[in-house]
Formats: sequence, structure tokens, C-alpha cells
Amino acid sequence: MFYTTDTNKHGLAHDPFKAIVAPRPIGWIGSRGMDGSVNLAPYSFFNAISDRPKLVMFSSAGYKHSQRNAVETGEFTCNFVSRHLVEKMNVSSAAVGYGVDEFALAGLTAKTGELVDAPYVAEAFAVLECRVTETLVPKSLTGDASENIMVFGQVVGIRIDETIIRDGRLDMAIARPVARMGYMDYSEGSDVFEMFRPQI
Ligand SMILES: Cc1cc2nc3c(=O)[nH]c(=O)nc-3n(C[C@H](O)[C@H](O)[C@H](O)COP(=O)(O)O)c2cc1C
Repeated sequence: MFYTTDTNKHGLAHDPFKAIVAPRPIGWIGSRGMDGSVNLAPYSFFNAISDRPKLVMFSSAGYKHSQRNAVETGEFTCNFVSRHLVEKMNVSSAAVGYGVDEFALAGLTAKTGELVDAPYVAEAFAVLECRVTETLVPKSLTGDASENIMVFGQVVGIRIDETIIRDGRLDMAIARPVARMGYMDYSEGSDVFEMFRPQI
């Protein structure tokens, strides 16, 4: 099958776009409001976009609390979503009012970062502490602004729970990262295999 996205007539029960761009890592974004409130929410329009310097990005569909806090304070954390935390991650996606503490809602412990004042999930196996570098509203082919706001951040500190370290590497069989698939599907990325790039 083939279809064009101007009409988006795919003829399927649900739009398959996000099932094709999958699996997507989940940026579980911790942030603090200017009023001191803490905020936590998952974003699967999220990724690492540079290693040197270490940069990440999450994309907010409209003006949400994580984007607001990150822009206002210039800081956020990205918390690693493991299988044992996935239900709590889901609870933290609830559309609650500004200032409502999703850490408490999900039964998680909020701790303040080492280098940033933003909160992180103490139960997470790994945390990226980030400072906002820029925001961008991406455009369509017609030049119209999309409804998304991309928030870019530089990773200034990384916290790792050493229980997931085996032989100097993060052991994914212990960390059990969860990724977002299409629809309401998730996958667990612990089925790891190794492959080396060609030496030419
Ligand atoms: C796994 C998962 C991934 C999500 N990814 C996104 C995303 O990439 N962008 C977005 O705007 N909302 C996303 N959402 C929805 C937000 O988490 C939800 O709107 C949340 O209430 C936003 O919280 P905030 O206003 O505190 O930032 C996702 C939800 C889930 C469960």
C-alpha cells in the first residue's frame, strides 16, 4: 500500500505513522516550576541528537507544563524508563493541572539534581541532568508552524544506579528499558544482540 499524507487516507483503523517510527525511547521529563512545584511527564518524541556535546530533545504537542517549566527555569531531567517503572510512568502522563506533583501521584520519590534544580526520579536507574540550549517550533513544507515545540537541552550531568553496571557496561537485561511503539503499545528493549560495523 501507499498513501500520501496530505489526505492521510491509509484506510487502516488507526494512523500507522507512529508505529513506523518505532521503537521510540521515552524521555521521562522532570522539571520544576518558577513557583517551586515539581512536574514529571513522559515524552516519546524524544531522543539524543548529539554526543559531543551531549544534546537531547523532547517535543511538546502544544504548550504543556514540562515545556513551560524547562523554558522558564532553563533546566530539566530525563529519567530512564525501566520495566519496573512503566506503570508509574503512565500515571505521570495524566493531564492534571499546573503545579500538581506527578511524582507524588505516581508514588515516586522526587530528588533535586546535582547540577540542576530540576527534580529527578530517585527510583530510575539513570538520569540525565540537562540545561536548555534552545527551543524550536518546526515548520511544515508550506512554512506553517507545527503545533509542536521542541526543547533542546545539553546533558551536563549523568546519574547511574550502579546496580545496572556489569563488566563496565550498562546491562540492559537488568535495566530493562521500555520504548514506545505505535498505538498504545510498548516494547521492552532487553533482547540485546551485538553487531560490529564493517572495517573497510
Ligand atoms: C509513553 C508516552 C509518551 C508521550 N509522548 C508525548 C510526546 O512526545 N509529546 C507530547 O506532547 N505528549 C506526549 N505524551 C503525553 C504527555 O505525557 C501528557 O500530555 C502529559 O500530561 C504532559 O504533562 P506536562 O503538561 O506535565 O508536561 C506521552 C504520553 C505517554 C504515556
